[in-house]
Amino acid sequence: MCGIVGYYGPKDPKDVIVGGLKRLEYRGYDSAGVAILDGPKNDQHFKVVRAEGKLGELAKKLETVSFTGHLGIGHTRWATHGVPSERNAHPHTVDGVSLVHNGIIENYQDIKADLAREGAVFSSDTDSELVAHLLARKVKETGDLFKAVELVLPMLTGAYSILAVWEKQPDVMVAFKNGPPLIVGVGEKEMVIASDVQAIISHTNKVVYLEDFEIVFVKGNDVKFFSAAGAPIKKEVVTITWTADQVEKAGYKHFMLKEIHEQPRAVAAACAPHVNLETKRVKLSDVGLSDEQLRGIERVFIIACGTSYYAGLAGKYLIEQLAKIPVECDIASEFRYRDPVIPPRSLILTISQSGETADTLAALRLAKQAGALTLSICNVRASSIDREAHGHLYMNSGPEIGVASTKAFVSTLALLNLLSLYLGQVRGALSVKDEQHALEQLLAAPSQMEAVLAYDKFFAEAAQKLKAYKGILFMGRGINYPIALEGALKLKELAYMHAEGYAAGEMKHGPLALIDERMLIVMVCPSDRNYEKTLSNLEEARARGGRIISIGTGDNHALKAVSDHYLSLPKAEWNVNPILESIPVQLLAYHVANAMGHDVDQPRNLAKSVTVE
Ligand code: M6R
Repeated sequence: MCGIVGYYGPKDPKDVIVGGLKRLEYRGYDSAGVAILDGPKNDQHFKVVRAEGKLGELAKKLETVSFTGHLGIGHTRWATHGVPSERNAHPHTVDGVSLVHNGIIENYQDIKADLAREGAVFSSDTDSELVAHLLARKVKETGDLFKAVELVLPMLTGAYSILAVWEKQPDVMVAFKNGPPLIVGVGEKEMVIASDVQAIISHTNKVVYLEDFEIVFVKGNDVKFFSAAGAPIKKEVVTITWTADQVEKAGYKHFMLKEIHEQPRAVAAACAPHVNLETKRVKLSDVGLSDEQLRGIERVFIIACGTSYYAGLAGKYLIEQLAKIPVECDIASEFRYRDPVIPPRSLILTISQSGETADTLAALRLAKQAGALTLSICNVRASSIDREAHGHLYMNSGPEIGVASTKAFVSTLALLNLLSLYLGQVRGALSVKDEQHALEQLLAAPSQMEAVLAYDKFFAEAAQKLKAYKGILFMGRGINYPIALEGALKLKELAYMHAEGYAAGEMKHGPLALIDERMLIVMVCPSDRNYEKTLSNLEEARARGGRIISIGTGDNHALKAVSDHYLSLPKAEWNVNPILESIPVQLLAYHVANAMGHDVDQPRNLAKSVTVE
């Protein structure tokens, strides 16, 4: 969950690396560092600058430092082994070999014991430094960094991506991986290696994705790929469509706020490829699964983590109601360890914005081993999950940089609508009229979302009062229940406030005891088939002294009468309501966190892409 950047080329490596790290800071931000060649032409050594804290601390230190070389590496860290500190910050450098690492070396204790016996002296508490020691020993033997990597790779177990450089080979970068992503940007007379395309797109749009147990060897302007056994391999150069301006804040205070406001466009972009405008019906384009395969599905398992899991939970309601297929929805870290029974003719649907979440990827692999058909919903194309699934649906949200997921969530809700409608269509579970009506409603969502974004102002003004509550209970029924869960997650991760998401009907079974006048209730209560029952739950909460924000449909007097604040959403069908309801709960969390002075884009202890278990 760290960010890695390496650069060789004519530009100032410091600028390229720090610029790249800035775009990868979402991956981890407890310390950062660079190692860049410096010194007279024929006697260059790595000058290492590291700092505890966010990248800004490193940038301050680097203001007065310059480098003469054209090769360097950098890292932004999310601590696993060793507390966040300068001493544990990467790069780790041993005898002229410097490296950055993302992941965990699981056999680090054995390696450390062996190295200690040989007299190694350690200068950090990390597992990563040990790999630098191993490489330093092997370059002494072989005189070549690539050969050293070939020898060290089989000694490592765990999930890692590692980028190494050696001062004796000042135009060489060698990187390898098993797990966390690594991407090579192939530029004009320059090479960038990074954890994510966002660090590369300012320099080139030509990239190569490294697979597990592959090694990339950059020498000057040349790049070659090898298997772990040293056999040359041919790799496809992919042209990426994301652009550099998509990863800027465009005048917003935070990426998260920008991304919230991008949501109408994100939903439209998710839908666009899958709508037949002539027939006004869903056509799943380029999904990679045949109608026959989709017709044969008898059970769906939806597997994801965090916000993607909550989107999946909404998908359960959609698929069951629209396509009449039973659905189980699982948290990936639970699914993979519970010996799941996956009957024949099951579809495993994995959802992941990043496409790199370790547990989701492992669950996908497990399902494939069991012989199941798999389909992924990802935002990042060519990410590990996207590459490994049989079928593919794309969020098309553009880069999501705020650690809190927003636009990927609503794009996924839109895709789950489309998938459910299409499954309903090919299986004959849905009349053409019903499909067209549901689709029409979905296509109206982007313009309705624009109207809901006006609540930005309301929450900006209300935030000071809202942050004073002891906690917030989010509640909803049916397909609105996952939105309650998502609202609570957003508040926890951004405002560090106690929040719970509950199925409103479950309230009397425990959480009612939490309610008093210091507890805020956010009741998601649109005019759908559960409306009356949810309204009764709202009355129960109010009778216990809870303060109420209700989110409902249109000008609802009954809700207004029993709420401290009533937020009105445009009239929509049940399948579209969650897309509209997402916006107020996101804005609430954003503004409360902002009013508390938190770093909204980089909440404490978190990283956007969770590539370790
Ligand atoms: O990239 P993924 O969708 O697989 O990520 C899953 C979760 O880590 C992610 O949704 C996380 O819960 C977000 N920080 C929530 O805002």
